[in-house]
Amino acid sequence: MNFQDIIRKKRDGHSLSKIEIDYLVKGISDGSLPDYQIAAWAMAVYFQGMDDRETRDLAIAMAYSGEVVDLSFIPGVKVDKHSTGGVGDKTTLLLTPLVAAAGIPVAKMSGRGLGHTGGTVDKYLSISGFQAERKYSDFIKQVQEVGAAVVSQSGNLVPADKRLYAIRDVTATVESIPLIASSIMSKKIAAGANSIVLDVKVGSGAFMKEQEKAEELARLMVEIGKKAGRRVIAILSDMEQPLGRMVGNALEVREVIDTLQGRGPEDLLDLSLVLASYMLILGEKTSSLEEARQWISEILVSGRGWEKFQEMIRAQGGELKDELDNYGLPKAQYQKEVIAEKSGYVSNLNAFLIGHSAMLLGAGRARLEDDIDYAVGIELLKKPGDLVQAGEALALLHLNDEKRMESALLQVSQAYQITPNKPQKPKLILDIIQ
Ligand code: URA
Repeated sequence: MNFQDIIRKKRDGHSLSKIEIDYLVKGISDGSLPDYQIAAWAMAVYFQGMDDRETRDLAIAMAYSGEVVDLSFIPGVKVDKHSTGGVGDKTTLLLTPLVAAAGIPVAKMSGRGLGHTGGTVDKYLSISGFQAERKYSDFIKQVQEVGAAVVSQSGNLVPADKRLYAIRDVTATVESIPLIASSIMSKKIAAGANSIVLDVKVGSGAFMKEQEKAEELARLMVEIGKKAGRRVIAILSDMEQPLGRMVGNALEVREVIDTLQGRGPEDLLDLSLVLASYMLILGEKTSSLEEARQWISEILVSGRGWEKFQEMIRAQGGELKDELDNYGLPKAQYQKEVIAEKSGYVSNLNAFLIGHSAMLLGAGRARLEDDIDYAVGIELLKKPGDLVQAGEALALLHLNDEKRMESALLQVSQAYQITPNKPQKPKLILDIIQ
């Protein structure tokens, strides 16, 4: 087979056969195809798209391009959860103990953050001593004993996606719905769960800025999962504004702890309850959404979720001190208020600008190899719908390097829109696709 012919076929808008896609994926994984040919193919897909069958074939071929996790040693239905990436999105940290306490084993592999969105593993790593790299046998043993483990994605999983994503990242071909759908689903299929709840984000802080595109992505991912024998539900949720009030690794862990103790922000709690409830349904614990919601709420209110959180952290070497010591989480040296210039209602809070400002402070990475500062970030004192007086603080920057302050300060104030009239409350859950 000549790969030049495959690129030409896609360039001219034709569908590739399964044999051609398998050849492509093998060439990406074993290094026999050079970067420039893979890049040319990705650009052809960017413009010409792929039909559903090609997208499925690509996802499944990539899923089996390396190791595939075997969770069969863990009894029960294993349910995974995935977010397409957002700002202040700490739902995995919150719902993992809640769902585990309801008897659903959570065996989760998560990634590190890149760009304006944070990564789940980075958030856990802000806890002193926490180990995200675990031997496979220890990972399985922990899920059997504790009911939950969240680790870094193993290096041998989906090598084809790893190489393809790195090429897409530098060739302006990330923003292609079939490539995103196949990339995400290849990792979810390889991670071994029977069922998957997808949180597809929509808005300024998300990959998908428009609901129509997010719906298309969600539909494709559900379809790929079903073809691979998984049960999949996609929840479309708002990412026009950040989730919760904290953005930045240790700050977000603190917000999760507060929420597990009954003092969390409404939007974070609402979305986590919906995601956790669907995990209970896919985990075959109940078929009633109402019952699932009640069950999760009881686990939260009784403190069993907080206990399970601590148990999982301890099992992975983490040490949480008491509240007076901020649970041992790192604290930034300086705090700087972002002041409102006029009075009115916060009508919009741009999630992208907040995520980008947190990255400028050092909470996120511009490149995958960058170091991050776990302590820094942004505390959002005002959110959409809140009344604010001129001169009042809108947000608090937590920072260690004063040189990084000016640009972050400017972006955070640009992120806030203040208008005279009270805006309508933004809708959090936009659609459910199954
Ligand atoms: N996240 C992924 O894992 N892959 C993509 O292509 C985009 C977002």
